[in-house]
Amino acid sequence: MNIVLIGFRGSGKTSIGREVAALLGRPFVDTDALIVQAVGKTIREIFAAEGEAGFRRREVAAVASAAEGDNQVIALGGGAVLNPVNIAGLKARQAKVVWLWASPKTLHTRIQADASTNASRPNLTAGGGLEEVQNLLAARLPLYEGAADATLDVGGISVEEAARKVAALWPH
Ligand code: S3P
Repeated sequence: MNIVLIGFRGSGKTSIGREVAALLGRPFVDTDALIVQAVGKTIREIFAAEGEAGFRRREVAAVASAAEGDNQVIALGGGAVLNPVNIAGLKARQAKVVWLWASPKTLHTRIQADASTNASRPNLTAGGGLEEVQNLLAARLPLYEGAADATLDVGGISVEEAARKVAALWPH
């Protein structure tokens, strides 16, 4: 059974996912990393060359490829829930989905603090910033909520604590 982490940018899917995988002794798969590896460009470069639509097509392929494996911890990109095919494909193989939740302000602060943001993360709306986080998170809330088998509030807890909580949900 795959454990899948979803949530907005800055929610800690990759760092928490890595730690959950270590705790459970499972492989860790990050679908953004699969895309970057396959294309040989950063996500920002893929958005620039192919638009968001091109990136989303590649994301469907990456999620489908991750879904073929079993007993992994999989971190999805923040927008992977936009196409229902992604979650449906994972759940068809019994995946359990955890939504890592934090407030827009916390997410924005974490995105700003992440040195890789400017180099690799494209703005998703014209303005970017806190407003982008607020608007996109509001629009995506029903999708995260609908996909989640469990929700974890990651505001104010460490990566290690969050990982322990996720690992305790489905320990085997
Ligand atoms: C996106 C989030 C990113 C990446 C892409 C689009 C989004 O993943 O897939 O830039 O639409 O929220 P992270 O959530 O891992 O940063």
